[in-house]
Amino acid sequence: MSVVRDPSLAPAGRRKIAWAARHMPVLESLARELEASGELRGRRLTLCLHLEAKTARLAEALHQAGAEVSVAGSNPLSTQDDVAAALAEEGVEVFAWRGATPEEYRDFLERALAHRPELLIDDGADLVSLLHSERRDLLGGVLGGAEETTTGIQRLRALEAEGLLAFPVMATNDGLAKHLFDNRYGTGQSVWDAIMRTTNLTVAGKTAVVLGYGWCGKGVAARAAGLGARVIVCEVDPVAANEALMDGFQVMPALEAAGQGDFFVTVTGMREVLRREHFERMRDGAVLANAGHFDVEISKPDLSALAVRREEARPHVESYVLADGRRLHLLAEGRLVNLAAGDGHPAEIMDLSFSLQVEAIRYVARHADELGPRLVPIPRELDERVLGRRLAALGVRIDRLTPEQEAYRRSWRV
Ligand code: ADE
Repeated sequence: MSVVRDPSLAPAGRRKIAWAARHMPVLESLARELEASGELRGRRLTLCLHLEAKTARLAEALHQAGAEVSVAGSNPLSTQDDVAAALAEEGVEVFAWRGATPEEYRDFLERALAHRPELLIDDGADLVSLLHSERRDLLGGVLGGAEETTTGIQRLRALEAEGLLAFPVMATNDGLAKHLFDNRYGTGQSVWDAIMRTTNLTVAGKTAVVLGYGWCGKGVAARAAGLGARVIVCEVDPVAANEALMDGFQVMPALEAAGQGDFFVTVTGMREVLRREHFERMRDGAVLANAGHFDVEISKPDLSALAVRREEARPHVESYVLADGRRLHLLAEGRLVNLAAGDGHPAEIMDLSFSLQVEAIRYVARHADELGPRLVPIPRELDERVLGRRLAALGVRIDRLTPEQEAYRRSWRV
């Protein structure tokens, strides 16, 4: 039995899912293929994902293909209750609501896993982590999984390095059809969408400090520049720092940037990237947003310790008032702003990400025995299938090499 906040919200959720589905043609075509092939029929699948409309369409498509699907949210603030209600009504087992306490969040994961999954789709590796710690009894039944996000891959690498990973997990995040689009263009758009809709402030003419210049940071910085901001990038990696310079951004340590920014966006996957020493230097009115998976990048304990009081300034905007009267505005409790105070990435982007997830899970289902317990790179052909279908859906045709060109590519002779 599903656990959702309010089943009567289902009609609004259904409209959101229908809108998303109309903009996800690749997933739609894969869904039809899966239904016809029957390859996932009867398979038990557990998903731990940000439960908004695009995710619901993914779960629904797997359910319609005959899989038995259970879903838990992958963040206490990213579940949309109307969408969860609509999905539960479809017959998918849903365990999620917005504003879950840590205990509820954990309980939802447990309930989703009670399904005894053969296949997993994780966003942040919470399912895998729970299975490898307190629910080892279920490990034997798992054929494998697929991971959506950079932070999840980081955790899986740590598990693999300790020799503990018990089944194959496809590194979907590292697939080209994922990170080149979702992490870069998806995060770039959805983060600024969320910041602008929650603050209702201009970005043009302001200074945006982007902390982290991975694929997500690149997208956030590029869109900030497109909106007319002056962009400062803070990095710890000399390669990424050089990329930021060549992309035309100022690069400096966070402590130097702290006194200059109007907007700060953390997108590092690291803890306490903004902390007391940075807050002490920030200007009155600075807006703080996190786009990383966990709410550890902006130190809330340090903000609370510095503040003499806290006020809710607007929905999803909490102002920390410091002793000297400066206000620092924290968005969405420091949780990933694009999902906690927005709708996540655009549907066309999630079409690519979730289609790659479907391809990944199909691949695991077919090849689990040969893959062995490790983090598995996405085979190039899966990326090409997804991106090829996307071009076909858009009606965009591309050139092919002639046989002579093919031969030339394979030859070493001059
Ligand atoms: N929607 C569902 N999952 C998402 C993710 N990981 N990032 C952004 N939007 C999403």
